[in-house]
Amino acid sequence: MYDDILLKIGKTPLVKLSRVFKEYDFDLYAKLEGFNPGGSIKDRAALSIIRNALKTGEIGPGTTVIESSSGNMGIGLAQVCSFYGMNFICVIDPKTTTSNIEILRAYGAEVDYVAEPDPETGEYLPARINRVRELLQTIPNSYWPDQYSNHYNYKAHYETMGEIVTQLGEAPDYLFCAASTCGTVRGCGEFVSDNKLRTKIVAVDAVGSVIFGGSSAKRLIPGHGASIVPSLCRPKLVDKVVKVTDLDCVIGCRRLVQNEAILIGGSSGAVLMAVDRLKEEIEPGATCVVIFADRGERYLDTIYSDTWVSKHFQGMTHLWQKQPQQKEMMMAI
Ligand SMILES: Cc1ncc(COP(=O)(O)O)c(C=O)c1O
Repeated sequence: MYDDILLKIGKTPLVKLSRVFKEYDFDLYAKLEGFNPGGSIKDRAALSIIRNALKTGEIGPGTTVIESSSGNMGIGLAQVCSFYGMNFICVIDPKTTTSNIEILRAYGAEVDYVAEPDPETGEYLPARINRVRELLQTIPNSYWPDQYSNHYNYKAHYETMGEIVTQLGEAPDYLFCAASTCGTVRGCGEFVSDNKLRTKIVAVDAVGSVIFGGSSAKRLIPGHGASIVPSLCRPKLVDKVVKVTDLDCVIGCRRLVQNEAILIGGSSGAVLMAVDRLKEEIEPGATCVVIFADRGERYLDTIYSDTWVSKHFQGMTHLWQKQPQQKEMMMAI
């Protein structure tokens, strides 16, 4: 029994994945962040940032919190602001899915829509941030959590890594996690570094994201990747970066639900495919942990829609069709 819903943020389950790489001699566990009450890992960052700002007196009842987010951080903030009785304006763009907009509104958030990308870069993120700055100037008693540079974002994930070590009973050899603001990768990386753990951190980024270098390009799947280098980013804490395509995300998500019956979001499919990319170099007997940032329900009209997938990746469905031996295994069970 819990006194309030925010106490359910964190302490998410760690579940063994014994089927998806069964022919490889490493153990794989998934930290299922979709079990947070707002549905994603961003509940942790939202709570950490808002709690700190309440503590310092920067915000209080009557404050209007304003943030740019096309998905999970917005929902995490909408949940926490609703709990503390604060207004929340989420600045979104055309990439935000209808279901995310509905969830934001259901929590009582106001949605502010940026229709045009930044004219210089062609990206929506700078346009959304400009809009946040405009709103901050016009709305009294307003506050910007600024997830891309707020240290209470990454500090929340010190605990995420601590939970993983406690749940496993030891430090994993590898941690795979998706990067966008770099809050997760930095917080987990700092925990590893401060405690001198053996864990190698693998950051999973999107092809077309610039976080760890490369040039910006169109990406279809939200969650991981960014068109800017976040000021929270500390490449020194990362042992390896794996860049994953949109198609890889679809393959990863579909493979996981077919093999392990776990419905995950796009960045989690990316993380699974990063393990696939490194599977030959992971030492036998190693323990690997993947962080799955959210659940699959927010991707029903994209990743899990055959119509959407065939529109964007024609002729690729054979890449995640069930293998006959998998079917036999399942029948035998
Ligand atoms: C689904 C999903 N995966 C991964 C991330 C990346 O997490 P972080 O911002 O901590 O780098 C996010 C961030 O919003 C996300 O929504």
